[in-house]
Amino acid sequence: MKNILLLGGGGRECTLAWKLSQSPLCGSFYIAPGNAGTSAYGTNLPVSYNDFEAVKKVCLDKQIDMVVVGPEDPLVLGIYDFIKNDVALQHIIVVGPSKEGAQLEGSKAFSKKFMERHNIPTAAYREFTKDNFEEGVAYIRHAQPPIVLKADGLAAGKGVVITSSIEEAVDAFKSMIVDAQFGAASSKVVIEQFLDGIELSVFALTDGENYVLLPEAKDYKRIGEGDTGLNTGGMGAISPVPFADAEFMNKVVNRIVEPTVNGLKKENILYKGFIFFGLIKVQGEPFVIEYNCRMGDPETEVVIPRLQNDLIDLFVKMESGQLNEVKILHDTRAAGAVMMVAGGYPGDYARGNVMSGFEQVKGSLLFHAGTTNKDGAVVTNGGRVLAITSYGNNIKDALSKSYENAQLINYTDKYYRKDIGWEF
Ligand code: AMP
Ligand code: GLY
Repeated sequence: MKNILLLGGGGRECTLAWKLSQSPLCGSFYIAPGNAGTSAYGTNLPVSYNDFEAVKKVCLDKQIDMVVVGPEDPLVLGIYDFIKNDVALQHIIVVGPSKEGAQLEGSKAFSKKFMERHNIPTAAYREFTKDNFEEGVAYIRHAQPPIVLKADGLAAGKGVVITSSIEEAVDAFKSMIVDAQFGAASSKVVIEQFLDGIELSVFALTDGENYVLLPEAKDYKRIGEGDTGLNTGGMGAISPVPFADAEFMNKVVNRIVEPTVNGLKKENILYKGFIFFGLIKVQGEPFVIEYNCRMGDPETEVVIPRLQNDLIDLFVKMESGQLNEVKILHDTRAAGAVMMVAGGYPGDYARGNVMSGFEQVKGSLLFHAGTTNKDGAVVTNGGRVLAITSYGNNIKDALSKSYENAQLINYTDKYYRKDIGWEF
C-alpha cells in the first residue's frame, strides 16, 4: 500500500484521482489542492503545489510514499530534485522528471536542441534574444509566412503565435523580445517553420531506461466550433485517434519515442515520468510540435479511462526500472470527452456560479476541473469547469452520450463546443 499525494486541481488530476483511488495499492490519498470532484476519491489539502516547503510538510505529516505531479510548473521549478535531495524525503517515489528533464517543456530552445542532437523530426528553427534581435528581424524578412514564433519559457499555453504575414511576425517578435510580452519567458524566442498537418498527442511513461505507450489522443484546442477562435487549454478530446494507424504509430515509435527516451538516457537526464509528445502528421510523416513533461488536459480524461493497468503498479515499476515487464492493456472502446467551460473563457469569466444536475447524469464519467465547494454547493472556480467522458463503440457514440449528459448540467453562462470529434 502506498500513501499518495497528487499535486494539481484540474480535470487531469480528477481523472488521475479517480484511477489511483481504484487501485488495491492505494493507501491514504491526498490531493493538493484538488477540486470539488477529487474529494470523492481522497482528501483535498489547501496547499499550493509550487510551495515546496508546504509540500514537504504534507509528505512528512502524512507519511507519503508517492508524489504524483499533475501540472508542469512544479516540475519545471524542480520538485523532483527538491524531494530527492532531502534526506527526509528521498525515499518517496516522484512521478515526474528532474528539473533538467522538465526543460523539454520548460524551454522551447532546449527541446529544439535536444531534437536536433538526436535527429528527431521537428520544424526547422532558429533562436533569438535581444543580442541578435536585428538578425531575427532579417531572418523573418526572408521567411515564408505563415511564421511561427514561440516564447522560450512557460507562458501558460499562450506563448505560441502563428503569423500570416512578415509584418505581423516582426511585430510579434518585437512584442516578445523588446516589450517582454511574456516576461522573462519571451526573452528568448524560437522562430520556426510552419507545419501544415493534423495534430495528435502521444503519451509514454518512462523509467529512464524503458517506456510504455499509453493510448493516444487528440484534443480540440480552439474555443469555437469548426476549430475557430482563441486557443484554450483544450475543449474536448478523443481516443483512439482514427488517423494514428499502425504504420504511422510505428514511425512515431521508431523516429520519436525511442530516440527521445534513449537521448535522455545518453545525456544522463533523470526522467521517471510521463512524456507527452505533441505531434503533427504531415503527409503521413510524424513531426514533434512540442514536448510536455506531464500528461495532457483534457487528453488524460480519455487516455486514463482507456488504460486498464493498475496505475500505482505502473508507478512502482517505473521507480524500480521494470517497465519492460509491463504489458499495457487498452480498453477497446473509444472514449470522448466534452469540456464544459465558464462563458467568456479563455478571456474573462465569472467564478462562483452554482452548478447543478450532477445526479441526473447517466452513463458518463464526470471529471471536475475548475470547481469548488461553497456553502454546500458545487460552484465554478475556473475557466474549464467539468469534463464529461463517455465510452462508446466508436467516437461518435461516445460523444453523443457525453453531449446528452452535458445538457443536464446547469450553471449560469455555461458553454461547450458541440462539435468535438466532428471530423470522425
Ligand atoms: P505549443 O504551445 O507548442 O503546443 O503550440 C501551440 C499550438 O500552436 C500547437 O498545438 C499547434 O497547433 C501550433 N503550432 C506550434 N508550432 C507549430 C508549427 N511549427 N507549425 C504549425 N503549427 C504549430
Ligand atoms: N491539451 C494540451 C495540454 O495539456 O497541453
